[in-house]
Amino acid sequence: MPHAMIADGSLYYEIHGSGSPVVLVHGFPLSARLWESTIAALQGRWKLIVPETRGLARSTGAHNATMARYADDIADLLKHIGETRAVVLVGMSMGGYTALEFFRRHRDRLRALVLVDTHPKPDTPQKAEERRTTALRVLKEGSGIVADVMMPVLFGPHAAPELLDEWRGIISGSPAEGVAAALRAMADRADSVPTLPMIDAPTQVLVGEHDAITTPDMARAMHGAIPGARLDIIPGSGHMLPVEQPRAFEAALSSFLGGLEEV
Ligand code: MLT
Repeated sequence: MPHAMIADGSLYYEIHGSGSPVVLVHGFPLSARLWESTIAALQGRWKLIVPETRGLARSTGAHNATMARYADDIADLLKHIGETRAVVLVGMSMGGYTALEFFRRHRDRLRALVLVDTHPKPDTPQKAEERRTTALRVLKEGSGIVADVMMPVLFGPHAAPELLDEWRGIISGSPAEGVAAALRAMADRADSVPTLPMIDAPTQVLVGEHDAITTPDMARAMHGAIPGARLDIIPGSGHMLPVEQPRAFEAALSSFLGGLEEV
């Protein structure tokens, strides 16, 4: 699968299927693997563009990581692959932070937004400080410390042990520089709350019933602030919705996508 050289980073991406373009952006510090089932379910009807975020998984260029750069990377990747149509942008958690930044910076490239297990608020000063401290520790001790912190809250109570083992491995194996850079990018991200009432693209908000990181209440509040948005709360899932309840996630996403006009 190919890489694109963008802003001094080699960005890994996959393209599956054909149809109107849908970009799938994973969360922190995950990989394109998050979308494996989504790709299988949707590639018959949509062209799925699946990047790995700068510095994470198979992508390099951590030294340039900011939320703005993550958003610009998507716009630059679309140019690189010659995709000129406006896209549906599906962002999970940190991918949702990126999607909101993309709305602010590249509105003309956006057909619709899907915000999965995410929220619009910036870090509190205390949370930002914690992330900076963790970033320094990751550089010394490796990404395993992030897995230790995240694993207890990442999945809902019904997740299979094999799924937990798999994702602990993926998170622990994330490049330390990229994980540290992403922590700093999240600490420095803008407040997207004032953006929500300005969102004039069709928007779906999706959240797992048991999401302990970005809770259903946070999703309800975000949904209430976005004009005309749709909300789907998926039973039986924690924060890792696309892998915890793939069938229900794919059905809700397909239903939203199916309601958009073809481009
Ligand atoms: C994510 O899943 O991308 C992160 O948990 C988001 C965050 O730490 O704010």
